[in-house]
Amino acid sequence: MIIAVDGPTASGKGTIAKALAAHFGLPHLDTGLLYRAVGRQCALNGGNPDDPADALRAAAFPDSLLADPELRSEESGGLASRVSIHPSVRQSLYERQRAFALQPGGAVLDGRDIGTVIAPEADVKLFVVASVAARAERRFREMQAQGRSVSLAEIAADLEARDLRDRTRAEAPLVAAPDAAVLDTSNLDRDEAITAAIGIAESRRNTESRQGT
Ligand code: DC
Repeated sequence: MIIAVDGPTASGKGTIAKALAAHFGLPHLDTGLLYRAVGRQCALNGGNPDDPADALRAAAFPDSLLADPELRSEESGGLASRVSIHPSVRQSLYERQRAFALQPGGAVLDGRDIGTVIAPEADVKLFVVASVAARAERRFREMQAQGRSVSLAEIAADLEARDLRDRTRAEAPLVAAPDAAVLDTSNLDRDEAITAAIGIAESRRNTESRQGT
C-alpha cells in the first residue's frame, strides 16, 4: 500500500505521515528533507539557490548531510523552497522518491507532489491543510522549545511567502490531487489529527479492497 501525504509547511503532514507509517508498519520518507539537503548544500557550496545550475550541482549532496540538524531550520526550509522550483532539481530527486514509493509492501511519503507526480497511483492520498495562524503558532512553539528567538509575525510572513512560491511554481506546484482526501488540522491537536488521518486511510484502504484493486 502506498500512502501519499501532501500539504504546506507546518500543516502537520510530517507528524501524520510518521504516525500512519507506524500504524500500518510501512517505511516513511520525508521528501522535504531531500529538498532541504539540496538547499543547504547549495549554501555550503557558496552557490545561489535561485540559479538552476548552482541548485542542480547541490543535488549531488552526500547522504550524510541528511542527518544534519541544521536541515530542520527555517533558513534551510526557505532555501529548499527556492531550489525546489527548478525542474532539473526535481528531476534529479525523482528516481530516489519513486523507488522508495515502489518498494515491495509499500511506503508512506510526505511532501508537496507525492499524490500528483511521485506516486499518482497511491492507494491513499491525504492533503493536509491548516490556517496560516494555526501553522505559525505551532512553528512558533516548536522554535521556542528549541530555544530559538523568533517573532510570530516573522514566522507567519515566512510561511505565506513559502506557500505562495510552492503553490505558484510552474513545475509540480503544491496542489491537492483530485482524488485526495483533504484534512484540515487547524482546530485539531496532534492526537486528533492522527486519529482522523488513520480513519481516512483505513476507510480508503477498505474501499480499495472491496473494489478488488
Ligand atoms: O516539507 P518541508 O517544509 O520540509 O519542505 C521544504 C521545501 O521543499 C518546500 O517549501 C518545498 C520543497 N518540497 C517540494 O518542492 N516537494 C516536495 N515533495 C517536498 C518539499
